[in-house]
Amino acid sequence: MEAKGKATLSYDDGKTLELPVYGGTIGPDVIDIRTLYGKTGKFTYDPGFLATASCSSKITYIDGDAGVLLYRGYPIEQLATHCDFLEVCYLLLNGELPSPEEKKTFDWTVTRHTMVHEQLARLYQGFRRDSHPMAVMVGVVGALSAFYHDSLDINNPDHRQISAFRLIAKLPTIVAMAYKYNMGQPFMYPKNSLGYTDNFMRMMFGVPAEEYEVNPVLSRALDRILILHADHEQNASTSTVRLAGSSGANPFACIASGIACLWGPAHGGANEAALQMLMDIQKDGGLEKVGEFIKKAKDKNSGVKLMGFGHRVYKNYDPRAKLMQETTREVLAAVGAENDPLLKLAMALEKIALEDEYFVSRKLYPNVDFYSGIVQRALGIPVSMFTCIFSMARTVGWIAQWNEMISDPEQKIGRPRQLYQGATKRDVVPIAKRGK
Ligand SMILES: CC(C)(COP(=O)(O)OP(=O)(O)OC[C@H]1O[C@@H](n2cnc3c(N)ncnc32)[C@H](O)[C@@H]1OP(=O)(O)O)[C@@H](O)C(=O)NCCC(=O)NCCS
Repeated sequence: MEAKGKATLSYDDGKTLELPVYGGTIGPDVIDIRTLYGKTGKFTYDPGFLATASCSSKITYIDGDAGVLLYRGYPIEQLATHCDFLEVCYLLLNGELPSPEEKKTFDWTVTRHTMVHEQLARLYQGFRRDSHPMAVMVGVVGALSAFYHDSLDINNPDHRQISAFRLIAKLPTIVAMAYKYNMGQPFMYPKNSLGYTDNFMRMMFGVPAEEYEVNPVLSRALDRILILHADHEQNASTSTVRLAGSSGANPFACIASGIACLWGPAHGGANEAALQMLMDIQKDGGLEKVGEFIKKAKDKNSGVKLMGFGHRVYKNYDPRAKLMQETTREVLAAVGAENDPLLKLAMALEKIALEDEYFVSRKLYPNVDFYSGIVQRALGIPVSMFTCIFSMARTVGWIAQWNEMISDPEQKIGRPRQLYQGATKRDVVPIAKRGK
């Protein structure tokens, strides 16, 4: 990388250090501080990485102020309208959209990896039936590393590619099995004559006793949900995957670490919280109570937030939220629930919040989670499975980012520093001599 300028840091009353500044193709420049500790004996302090670029990447770009999300340069709105999920997977992994021939080969290859080893299927029996499906996901995806370890050389691009195929292909099977296990129903084996999302819906909702007919409107909606969640640059779970992978760890184990991070309510669990909020308001009186709820959400002492509103990065309408609202309407119409009271409630909350000075001045807009709970519920997906669907979609982003990191010659093991504020060096007093 060639520096486009320099930044000068003054410290210790008069000393200065020049640091190179690099520019991206779009987005903020970065100040390269790698020499800082060596030259000044100081670290930077940035808990939560509010202003730290941990890597350079060519995969996803977000402009939070403008409400822009690009995968490999393509706007999310265009991808969600013109492409299917596997096309987007190809794009994220390879940098370009596939030709018709490349797409055919890609789909065929993914399809050939959909089954899991029978021994892996037996692993489910070790879990309680009522385990949270995300706990099962962390365990089962981590266990994939036991099946693909000795033969895997992460420095070999072909081996990395086959790991990507395996993960993208097997995640729907593993998610559907987690659901079936919880329901006490038999596992449905994948059916390779079906497309990626149709196959997943059949494994989730089909039973061996009957033929399962896929509803194309619902399948297209779910496919779009997968596209909207496929990547989101260096968020918490992606950074977790990169950090785990930076030590050279097995990629299946790294993806399991991403799933663990995603499970948290501040990350993948937020759509569940947004749906719960809507259900609670509905139970309390519905539309009539919207004003009262908004009042509470604005009161810092109430402990209430308008869930599905606000975002660390987007200070504008999350572009995925618009698409999600459209998809919600399509799905509700397809299942005959156009008058779903939760949708009406969500739209009323959104309308008031978008006009309210509190939300406007803080740039709080609906995020992707505001509508995704309603749509998944209408698709028949139980609340506890929402984050599993998210992990299935995000797997391609994680593996694309992991692959980019391993191929990067500048890659180093991730090792943040700290500002130590604990006790200084002291001597141990033997236990018999310590007071009460
Ligand atoms: C996502 C979120 C954590 C982003 O946080 P952040 O960028 O750190 O923003 P802050 O928490 O500093 O919020 C800025 C201000 O808006 C307020 N605010 C943020 N989100 C709010 C919400 N959903 N409802 C009411 N007030 C909110 C904060 O209280 C703060 O007010 P102040 O400046 O008067 O103190 C936050 O908006 C939130 O908790 N949203 C609801 C949960 C959610 O939908 N999460 C999914 C994210 S994809």
